[in-house]
Amino acid sequence: MRKIPDERVGNQFDLGASNAPVGVSLIAGLPAVDEFPMAVWERLRTQVLAKKGAHLLRYGSNRGDADLRKAIAAYLCDFRGARCHPDQIVIMAGMQQAILISAMALLNPGEAAWIEDPGFHQARRAFVFAGATVVPRPIDREGIVITRSSKEPSPKIIFVTPSHQFPLGVTMSFRRRTALIDFARDYDAFVLEDDYNSEFCFNGPPLPCLQGLDNSSRVIYAGTMSKILYPSLRLGYLVAPEQLVDSIAKVRSVMDQHSPTIDQATLARFITEGFFLSHVKRMRKLYAERREFFIAEFNKLLDEHFTLQIPETGLHLVAWLRREADFARLARVRAEIGIRPSLLSFFCIRAKLKPAFVFGFAAWSPAQIREGLIKLASALKAKRKINAVGKQSYSYVSPCGYVEN
Ligand SMILES: Cc1ncc(COP(=O)(O)O)c(C=O)c1O
Repeated sequence: MRKIPDERVGNQFDLGASNAPVGVSLIAGLPAVDEFPMAVWERLRTQVLAKKGAHLLRYGSNRGDADLRKAIAAYLCDFRGARCHPDQIVIMAGMQQAILISAMALLNPGEAAWIEDPGFHQARRAFVFAGATVVPRPIDREGIVITRSSKEPSPKIIFVTPSHQFPLGVTMSFRRRTALIDFARDYDAFVLEDDYNSEFCFNGPPLPCLQGLDNSSRVIYAGTMSKILYPSLRLGYLVAPEQLVDSIAKVRSVMDQHSPTIDQATLARFITEGFFLSHVKRMRKLYAERREFFIAEFNKLLDEHFTLQIPETGLHLVAWLRREADFARLARVRAEIGIRPSLLSFFCIRAKLKPAFVFGFAAWSPAQIREGLIKLASALKAKRKINAVGKQSYSYVSPCGYVEN
């Protein structure tokens, strides 16, 4: 039989391809899936099937389950400051699809999509796939920088993560939010708001979403269940200005019709019966404890190497290297011991930032977090001794294929 090579093209983007044992890796982006109330979900799923029977096995609507759209609209109006009704909601297979479908519905090939730099790499890939000209925009203390140089094409769509800029963690200021909406209106563009984890704000409620501030129908709001529930569910949604709903639903119908009807109906029940809110509440508490523990242990064990940046929201933290000269050593250690924070440079297009690593903390217990950080600290110590004897320089290829020296 022909042997399948380990290193196939695109493997670096296959998030489920790794055969690595499920242990502590401190990789960014993973929620605590082992805390998901599986028994409740299964019970609701059985009830939904018993009630709706074979109806759920037929094709569903390409806008999504009506009960689910109603439940999501109510949640967003009550808890995210959105202003919407269920007819504006189109259920998606997660954020990545929401971005791709928005781009396909709005952009002609070659038109510009402004994206944050550094930013969500899957957004960049989706816009490129849709034929957009991707224009990276820097981030300052208030969020995406929107002043336009005459050399840059004006955007048709502006992709942002206002509650928690990915990956830097900046919360977009109120001033920048209103400026962004005004800018979109003036340039006949749309803002695509990725609100991927505003539920996990640790110092009081998050700022209301951009969509709720928008009086000129310029904001498309996108949410995902990947962080709140679990990523393999592949469910998310768009809240679109009314004039865009038809085009978005049309693209979805060409792409794959709709998301699985049984999961959608189960999620509708999960929300309307109060399990969603109680899960969010419980996870916020759990993540707050893990975050506090991570910060304390990190500073105890690795303060010599990093300065930890601590935003109010989110399930990852950026750690800036104190000495740039340590970068290659750290990248090497990371690959060897399986503690795999992402390189910040992986998320950069033009941005030239100081070397830093992005650590996840949410998916592991305090004992596992300590284990991972001790492993990293000891490996760094051991490496320093080796380097003192025979100095080497390393070249490290990031998962994106960029070469870091
Ligand atoms: C900025 C951002 N948005 C959204 C998501 C979730 O994407 P999806 O819903 O496609 O799983 C992630 C996952 O890491 C993310 O980093």
